Amino acid sequence: MKEKIIIFDTTLRDGEQSPGASLNVNEKVEIAHQLVKLNVDVIEAGFPISSMAQFDAVQQISNSVDAVITGLARAIDADIKSAGDALQNAKKKRIHTFIGTSDIHINGKFEDLRYGHNINEKRKTIIKMACNAVKYAKTFTDDIEFSPEDAGRTDIGFLAEIIYAVIESGATTVNIPDTTGYTMPHEFGMKINELKQKVSNINKAVISVHCHNDLGLAVANSMNAISNGARQIECTINGIGERAGNASLEEVVMALKVRSDYWDFYTDIKTEEIYNSSCLVSRFTGILIQPNKAIVGENAFSHEAGIHQDGILKNKNTYEIMVPSSVGITQNKIVLGRHSGKHGLSSRLETLGYSPSKEKLNNVYQRFLELADKKKEVYDEDLRILMGKKSNSNADYFKLEYLHVNIGTSIIPTATVRIEYENKIVEESSTGDGPVSACIGAIKRSINIKESLTMEHYQVRSISVGKEAQGEVILRLRSKNGRYSGRGISTDTIEASAIAYLNALNKFVALENKDTSFKTN
Ligand code: KIV
Ligand code: ZN
Repeated sequence: MKEKIIIFDTTLRDGEQSPGASLNVNEKVEIAHQLVKLNVDVIEAGFPISSMAQFDAVQQISNSVDAVITGLARAIDADIKSAGDALQNAKKKRIHTFIGTSDIHINGKFEDLRYGHNINEKRKTIIKMACNAVKYAKTFTDDIEFSPEDAGRTDIGFLAEIIYAVIESGATTVNIPDTTGYTMPHEFGMKINELKQKVSNINKAVISVHCHNDLGLAVANSMNAISNGARQIECTINGIGERAGNASLEEVVMALKVRSDYWDFYTDIKTEEIYNSSCLVSRFTGILIQPNKAIVGENAFSHEAGIHQDGILKNKNTYEIMVPSSVGITQNKIVLGRHSGKHGLSSRLETLGYSPSKEKLNNVYQRFLELADKKKEVYDEDLRILMGKKSNSNADYFKLEYLHVNIGTSIIPTATVRIEYENKIVEESSTGDGPVSACIGAIKRSINIKESLTMEHYQVRSISVGKEAQGEVILRLRSKNGRYSGRGISTDTIEASAIAYLNALNKFVALENKDTSFKTN
């Protein structure tokens, strides 16, 4: 009998900690719904105490998404209360509380003498704080996860002691994070093994692991942990996360599935939803997937060398260990055009894993016709974008109504933009070194941005093929307190740039500066 591995998805919490990946509440809810389609077991929806926006996201996901929802909390009453409150309406809720346990973390975060005069006293205090946190969290739900942060570099004796104590206090999952991605696969596996030997009550809790990818070993470490007793894997879509990211969900899941001859474990993941999930997360976070990324990268299933192509044509198994359709990648590239009907669109969307309501289908069909008017062939990628685009996103403060650009070899680029905000319209013009800088100049002249925002990243790429392909612009703005990515898609890359700029600006406004307004106000 194969044993189940619980898939704990932390795309919306650790994944969102990727530089520039800030997601608005609507986007988080949409990703959470996709995670349900993917059939993950647990969704870590955010860190409620950290901001109002995080609290709202956890609350809204708890209100509408049917999976185990968890919120992160330090081992502090205020954090736990905030998580408990945000999760109040979740049908199945978990509180995930953590505290630093390595000497480096203890000395760095708990240097105040009230925590103890030496490392032994401080460790005792940490155990007490962890147990109190678990007991308090128990007053909100029975399902409690505890993480000793930086367990990868924590003394094994102390790690065993704190794990024993939190299980006695009621923790039902004990998660062992390799917070800095420091450990080697065999070493990390041995750590799990040692905990199984040393912690006498370990069988009362599920052992989980949470591996970071600083040395590119997050998946290997997670797999080794499974071999040694871990039964929950914490991971993210596309492996996004703090710094070099977390273990990638699709890689862990497909390793177990493709090598089911090797592993005595399975997951409940609907692998055909992997590609849809990957595209959605990439689109909303603005983090592009490297072409050679395992499972979901553009090149993951393409064969370049003649000898490989020849082999594949004769027998797919020569160079392919899994078929693209097993992760939801469809081979059918050219799909629809402007003569296609609503029925054709609907059945193509179904093949891609979408089941839009009648109202959404009508809306998408209108936008499909507009797009098909601009480009002859509408590809699967275009359809995914139409499905992801919200028709009335209340997160958009400033919207581009109109754009006119004058460029030529012997004139100064000039742009005029008309922007709508709370039913008011402002029109402004600006010149620039090029059409994009003229557009951004005109936007900046329209809006009273009270802080200087620097553009630290700007990238254009073509989404599908052919000269009519849609262009995608991804850019990132940096403020004093954060980074905001923006994404714009259009058959015109200048318009895509203006949309991307406003998209990032809207995120900045939502999170940092709600009273940003038109210059004329
Ligand atoms: O990396 C880490 O240690 C974490 C914990 C909060 C689980 O993200
Ligand atoms: Zn982490």
